[in-house]
Amino acid sequence: MKLILTAAAASLLAVSFASPALAQGDGAVTYKTKCLMCHGADGQPTMAGKSLKAMPFKSPELISASNATLIASVTNGKGKMPAYAGKLSAGEIKDVVAYIRTLQK
Ligand code: HEC
Repeated sequence: MKLILTAAAASLLAVSFASPALAQGDGAVTYKTKCLMCHGADGQPTMAGKSLKAMPFKSPELISASNATLIASVTNGKGKMPAYAGKLSAGEIKDVVAYIRTLQK
């Protein structure tokens, strides 16, 4: 299990280093490379996301949560979700939260 997690972490790192386009702050690209594996293409959590207790982005709590709350959760982490401070810039986090809003429609 530890080996599998290490391999997964290594491939996540490889993705982030291989994607210079991320620096441009495109929320959709950030979402697809860093968030989709847990939150799913349409905001419905994947098996991995469900096992960590991620909620669908369309849940009433997350629709009514403020941008500031969601930005803080992504920046600092929440529950089993890792923190993205230092991995994504503040602008990238803002853009990815804006992209999540489009998945809530
Ligand atoms: C390893 C799986 C995983 C990844 C990758 C992941 N998340 Fe999460 N995310 C979770 C889990 C689990 C929760 C539920 C946390 C809780 O409420 O305990 C969550 C919750 C959230 C929430 C709701 C926060 C709140 O205040 O309730 C947002 C927004 C979110 N994630 C955005 C993102 C974004 C943006 C990314 C990519 C940069 C991302 N997540 C990557 C697992 C993940």
